[in-house]
Amino acid sequence: MRVSADRSILFTPTTLGKVELANRVVMAPMMRCRATPDGVPSPLATEYYVQRASAGLIISEGTQPSWQGQGYPRTPGIHTPEQVQAWAKITGAVHQAGGKIAVQLMHVGRVGHRANQYKPVGHVAPSAIAAPGHIMTDTVGRQPKPVPRAATIDDIHDLTGQHRQATSNALSAGFDAVELHCANGYLSHQFLSTGTNQRTDEYGGSARNRCRFVMETVSAMIEAGGVGRIGIRISPGGNPSAIPDDNPLETYTVLLQALPQDKLAWVHIQPDPSGWDPSPLYEFVTAPLILTGGYDGDTAAEALCSTPAQAIGFGRPFISNPDLVQRLRHNHPLATSDPSTYFTPGPEGYTDYPAWSDPE
Ligand SMILES: Cc1cc2nc3c(=O)[nH]c(=O)nc-3n(C[C@H](O)[C@H](O)[C@H](O)COP(=O)(O)O)c2cc1C
Repeated sequence: MRVSADRSILFTPTTLGKVELANRVVMAPMMRCRATPDGVPSPLATEYYVQRASAGLIISEGTQPSWQGQGYPRTPGIHTPEQVQAWAKITGAVHQAGGKIAVQLMHVGRVGHRANQYKPVGHVAPSAIAAPGHIMTDTVGRQPKPVPRAATIDDIHDLTGQHRQATSNALSAGFDAVELHCANGYLSHQFLSTGTNQRTDEYGGSARNRCRFVMETVSAMIEAGGVGRIGIRISPGGNPSAIPDDNPLETYTVLLQALPQDKLAWVHIQPDPSGWDPSPLYEFVTAPLILTGGYDGDTAAEALCSTPAQAIGFGRPFISNPDLVQRLRHNHPLATSDPSTYFTPGPEGYTDYPAWSDPE
């Protein structure tokens, strides 16, 4: 018989870098594609995040640091004054509701399509290798993912600069922290993996070289955002269909040993869909650890007891349970989210999931 861990550990406060959390239930970053075409989060986004402000920490949907960083339709940015002002309303409202919120910086690299970019500047990646498969667009239907332009050294410095500037914009918009999206096959992950990075200069080849872009970007973000305000999300594993890596254990051991973890707010690990077990890496994590992926109240509490994790991220459960923390606390049933409205415009499947109410 499986004995469940005492869930009360989930509701104890903790600190990730300089960010104090009222509980250990983190809302994982989730793209929802409800921004205006020019990447400004709408007032609906304020309502959506405020509904979920009882999370110990919200990590926002992936947010592009530049026009070039966009790959999907209607994703927000944090690089124009209008975008920054709209985010400031969101962070202010979340704080007013007693919550904490970080922005996730997501540059898609090779994953996307020009038709999805408000300014169709195209895609840049470590090497000119297309991602497999197709991508939806609002205007021209399903399209094969493009062959990206291989980044020049100037491009690489520019990409790091985009993250530096976006971090500084985020802090001025009132975010508590900034997470670098280095997972799920997007730009930073593309630099790390042997299958997507075939460069022969100092940004490719050895694991140390493949980690260089991420190291430089994290350092720039720390310079702009300060110690204890920057987190990084990784999904080690070498998923053969999306982002193959010859030796993920080596790549991520080198990365974790090289990162300035004493200056990071967190390392956030989401297992790769390939099923690769990331637990051998935990011993190299010295910053606060967040684990996300497939947790419920009991398994989250167990993970807080049996792993070094300090907080647990929940993705899909937060889509359909705005009051997830209260439901976990009172052991109320969880509503299931509807994938058909994950990325559609408007309130349906976004702000219309109700909080729990006791049956009459
Ligand atoms: C609709 C949707 C959008 C997502 N968007 C992002 C994203 O923008 N950035 C990211 O790092 N992960 C993203 N993810 C992955 C989640 O953060 C999370 O890791 C994943 O859903 C597994 O956690 P869960 O089992 O609790 O849902 C997304 C997941 C979903 C379902």
